[in-house]
Amino acid sequence: MSRYAYVNGQYLPLSVAGVHVEDRGYQFADGIYEVIAVYQGRLADEEAHLARLDRSLKEIGLAWPVTKRALKHIMRRVIAINLLKNGMLYLQVTRGVSRRDHAFPKADVAPALVVTAKTLKPTSPDVLDKGVAVVTMPDLRWKRCDIKSVALLPNILAKQAAKEKGAYEAWLLDDKGFVTEGSSTNAWIVTAKGEIVTRPLGTPILAGVTRRAILALAKDAKLKLVERAFKPAEALKAKEAFLTSTTSWALPITKIDGKPVGDGKPGPVTLRLRQLYAQALEKGL
Ligand code: PDD
Repeated sequence: MSRYAYVNGQYLPLSVAGVHVEDRGYQFADGIYEVIAVYQGRLADEEAHLARLDRSLKEIGLAWPVTKRALKHIMRRVIAINLLKNGMLYLQVTRGVSRRDHAFPKADVAPALVVTAKTLKPTSPDVLDKGVAVVTMPDLRWKRCDIKSVALLPNILAKQAAKEKGAYEAWLLDDKGFVTEGSSTNAWIVTAKGEIVTRPLGTPILAGVTRRAILALAKDAKLKLVERAFKPAEALKAKEAFLTSTTSWALPITKIDGKPVGDGKPGPVTLRLRQLYAQALEKGL
């Protein structure tokens, strides 16, 4: 159960937790966020998430709402009061409350911080047995997808369109037809040569914390890694495809736009990476 939220200095039951109508996050999507997995009551890859939070804040010219030390304390308290074992924390920082005006408010307006918790069920064995489907569509987002902005309307529309087509995720295509990433996940393939391919970091994609962990695990396991962009046609000729995110770990993709990837079954490389990731989580990532 997730019943309490941290909102600007207070721990409140969700039923009464709220933010001001003139919070710039609400009015302008002027804010950034993080999603951190909680595994067996512990935060997973906390430092990497806080480093990305720091970067997102800097990129939009926003100060930390509280010190890093205080934020770590708040997150642990939110986990404790929600009795959270397995799930995620959602952290959101916005440019605070001020009368609606596009330019930044005066320097004395404090950034607003909200932390909520959610229990998540483990991925079902059925999903792992069958893999998931993705559908491709144009990437309609802005040119700074490396910032974890709360402005997610294009991502939401893409995810909804995927869902309506019976798919788990949307793969977004840039103007040249290359896959940028999923609406809330990073995109990968495993080629016939056994190379694990994912798009290099840059402004068109979010630097996924799970992407980073998977790359490190693959490197340790001496697997072949190539950071380059790929198109859906190449993915359909690949042996395997998969996606990564904090909440999905590494998940096999077995269908792209209704067509099977490889033999249409989750592949050994994806399953191995998922297992390595699960082991890392168990040890304390
Ligand atoms: N989504 N790309 C996008 C656009 C994302 O929103 C996410 C994360 C990722 C994967 O990043 P990570 O491995 O750090 O979770 C890639 C989160 C989980 C969300 O919005 O819920």
